[in-house]
Amino acid sequence: MTTARPTIAVLGGTGAEGSGLALRWAHARYPVIIGSRNADKAAQACAQIVVLCVPYAAQRGTVEEVRPALEGKILIDTTVPLVPPKVARVQLPEGGSAVAAIQALLGESVRVVSAFQNVAAHLLQDLGHEVECDVLVCGDDMPARETVIKLAADIGLRGIHAGPIANSAAAEALTSVLIAINSRYKIPGGAGIRITRLEGAEH
Ligand SMILES: NC(=O)c1ccc[n+]([C@@H]2O[C@H](COP(=O)([O-])OP(=O)(O)OC[C@H]3O[C@@H](n4cnc5c(N)ncnc54)[C@H](OP(=O)(O)O)[C@@H]3O)[C@@H](O)[C@H]2O)c1
Repeated sequence: MTTARPTIAVLGGTGAEGSGLALRWAHARYPVIIGSRNADKAAQACAQIVVLCVPYAAQRGTVEEVRPALEGKILIDTTVPLVPPKVARVQLPEGGSAVAAIQALLGESVRVVSAFQNVAAHLLQDLGHEVECDVLVCGDDMPARETVIKLAADIGLRGIHAGPIANSAAAEALTSVLIAINSRYKIPGGAGIRITRLEGAEH
């Protein structure tokens, strides 16, 4: 990434997770474009980085709709394939991962990076508090992963290289595990994940 901040388009930027991420990046002085079903698609096409924050049911349709604008870009996909009403139960789609399926759909010309599945929207929306959890960052393209880790760091989150896009399955599944933990323990603010013993390790 150059020192100039890239423009980020958040598809689903009017929703809970999308608005939280958009708020944090805007606060970190990134130019942010908010996308919703009614947004100007031409404005979204100007962005260097696109973030997908729509419900799982709308994930593939939204990607197909904006596909020409994604060519050559990084697509950060936050999708968790929850199947209501049993959202505390892991129910990954056929093939294992909702985000890996999008990388397979788009091919190598779009670098899909999976991130933020385990970061609760209400924490992102509260600028008065640090979010205090790690972000598993999965993707087949290392520089794209580095870019997303930098974007996470700029909003106070520790992004961690968590392997190829196939590993997104673990992050997607973890969200249901966190929902189950929150339901059982009623943790104020909600549980997040932390990877231990990374401090002082080689980066
Ligand atoms: N909520 C969380 O804490 C959280 C945490 C991690 C990951 N995520 C993931 O983030 C994604 C969004 O979750 P959310 O909780 O933010 O949902 P949400 O509050 O319901 O927001 C959904 C967003 O998607 C848009 N949208 C809805 N249906 C659409 C469709 N058919 N086509 C295009 N856009 C559509 C909405 O735009 P309009 O303005 O057009 O309605 C809205 O901006 C999900 O994949 C979820 O798994 C959420």
